[in-house]
Amino acid sequence: MIDKTTVARIQDAAQIVEVVSDFVTLKKRGVNFVGLCPFHDDRTPSFYVSPAKNFCKCFSCGEGGSPVHFLMKKEQLSYPEALKYLAKKYHIEVIEKELTAEEKQQQSDRDSMFILNEYARDYFVKTLHDTHEGKAIGLTYFRERGFRDDSVKKFQLGYCLDEWEAFTQTALSKGYNADYLVKLGLSKRREKDNSLFDFYKGRVMFPIHTLSGKVVGFGGRTLKKEDKAKYFNSPESEIYSKSNELYGIYFAKSAIVKRDKSFLVEGYTDVISMHQAGIENVVASSGTALTKGQIRMLHRFSPNITMIFDNDAAGIKAAVKGIDLLLEDGMNVKVVLLPEGEDPDSFAKKQNAEDFNRYIDENEIDFIRFKTQHLLQEVGDDPIKRAGLIANIVQSISLIPNAIARSVYIQECAQLLNVRENVLIAEVNKIRLKNYDKRRENQHKDSSYEAPSPEEIPEIAPENIRKTAQPKNPYERFEREIIRYIVRYGNTPIYRKYETVKRIEKRMVIEEDILREIGPGVTEFIRYDLERDGFDFSIPLYKQVFEEACQYIDDATFESSTFFASHIDPIVSKLSVELVSDRYELSQYHSKQIGEELGSEKSRLLEQNQLETLVPRATTELKNAYILQKRKEIMKKLETADEENTILLISELKGLEKAKKDLAKVLGERIL
Ligand code: CTP
Ligand code: MN
Repeated sequence: MIDKTTVARIQDAAQIVEVVSDFVTLKKRGVNFVGLCPFHDDRTPSFYVSPAKNFCKCFSCGEGGSPVHFLMKKEQLSYPEALKYLAKKYHIEVIEKELTAEEKQQQSDRDSMFILNEYARDYFVKTLHDTHEGKAIGLTYFRERGFRDDSVKKFQLGYCLDEWEAFTQTALSKGYNADYLVKLGLSKRREKDNSLFDFYKGRVMFPIHTLSGKVVGFGGRTLKKEDKAKYFNSPESEIYSKSNELYGIYFAKSAIVKRDKSFLVEGYTDVISMHQAGIENVVASSGTALTKGQIRMLHRFSPNITMIFDNDAAGIKAAVKGIDLLLEDGMNVKVVLLPEGEDPDSFAKKQNAEDFNRYIDENEIDFIRFKTQHLLQEVGDDPIKRAGLIANIVQSISLIPNAIARSVYIQECAQLLNVRENVLIAEVNKIRLKNYDKRRENQHKDSSYEAPSPEEIPEIAPENIRKTAQPKNPYERFEREIIRYIVRYGNTPIYRKYETVKRIEKRMVIEEDILREIGPGVTEFIRYDLERDGFDFSIPLYKQVFEEACQYIDDATFESSTFFASHIDPIVSKLSVELVSDRYELSQYHSKQIGEELGSEKSRLLEQNQLETLVPRATTELKNAYILQKRKEIMKKLETADEENTILLISELKGLEKAKKDLAKVLGERIL
């Protein structure tokens, strides 16, 4: 135990920015720093680090805290381990302190329970391999169902003799405490005289390991047909919280990281058989629905999960049920159904890793397609049921935190269900706003409620947008024009050129013109061009869109128009739909240069080929509008100015005239 003074010194020394920087690349933003959140699959920097408050927080997933908390979470350290890490980093000597009696008790309770579980595991393993009954019944059973001896060893499978007190008596004679035996569920008390008997009598034993390989519990499978419960499982205890453990995670974690993907199956035997077939990135939910804690644990290793299910009604139902929580956590969820009559256990036994993986590659489908296909079968042509199905799927999509992923699913769903994309976008937004309102309300009532993430919150309250976005603003139409390019073209490069490439085919030289895209994307160019001259958007809604688009400048997969059209803020999505569709009123330049058909594919291509001219023209026009406005203001002041001020105003005016001429030149050059 580290003494209090040292703890305080460590906490004083630890600078959140320095600590986080060891794991996350941070950029300064105002008084804070931001970076990609290390706790979830972050696409836009949502992880905020405040040097002033000395803490960090992810506005998307909610993780964060003090330097110590950050380390505990990030590196899976205990509290004292995190303190020691910091002490080392800041060269502080750690003096360990004696525990108080109560602390000792708590600590030793947990320690004792772990030690007892370890003893029980070893006892069951030994019984399986070294006793006649263990070999004849337990080991024979495992072998008959196809578990190799190395798998039995690796998973530390065991056997509990078919006697009433064999294990309990041995444990007691070794000095283990009866209360711990009961707490861990290894022994039960008889009602009549409180004496102890073996809970797992006559069962084969599957130890359940924590992330770090400690045994927190057991599953004991019966070998007798007449037993009602196939498995007996350990009860919850000080060391075992079922909802926070996953069977197999200890053996799977490095494979999950390596393959950047986990497989989820139902049971103990599925995990073991898949390992045996060479697929190690697999965990089991032990027959129940996944919990948030389990999902978070998996997510830490990879955001990709494929659920493997039996191809029967129960399997499909289970799959559909588990999906929403995973989506909500931002996981990429896929589903594989096994051939009729197979479960992962039986299927893995017939395949090697290569075949199994091929089957998965060929058959895994993303959740939306899965849910749609299977529900569609049930629904048939009934229009009311169909509407219900659409609502059901929209509900799932609306849970996905990442806007890009959401818009991809919306597109796919629109196609599969033959519904217009805009209708789905509107529905998804409706649900997200409703959820957001609900959470905000609950937050007021209950302080333990998680705050809504910023992606859910329209950054500018709709009321304010309406107030500020009045048409009188002289820059409105110019700013809108710029935003229009951002929404429509995003990261599309603005310069492109044709290059003649020669190749030889059948001994003939063939010349081909290839279009090369070069230069900055539309958004990047606009940011550069406006920042250079110190310009910014005056209309909050446009500023919001601009800033959001800037966050994706380096993301080659960013689909600007889809992203904004499916934006959570209905005002942004409405604006974007307007800007992308032909409802947008053509600016004079467009109608002149491109023709009236804006919005059609042809005109879009035409426009896209002229971005090099059109985009700089749009920013220049905005600057021009500023100059005109400024000039108007000066003229007005001149009417009442005294002599001294007049001289100042006139020189200012001259400066403006020059800037105007420069701009005109740029505009001219661009046009010619
Ligand atoms: N399970 C349980 N209690 C039961 C039945 C099942 O805890 N009475 C859990 C176990 O974790 C089990 C999983 O649900 O591994 C899947 O159940 P099932 O497929 O019935 O069991 P298997 O482990 O596949 O066993 P077997 O193949 O030997 O029948
Ligand atoms: Mn099974």
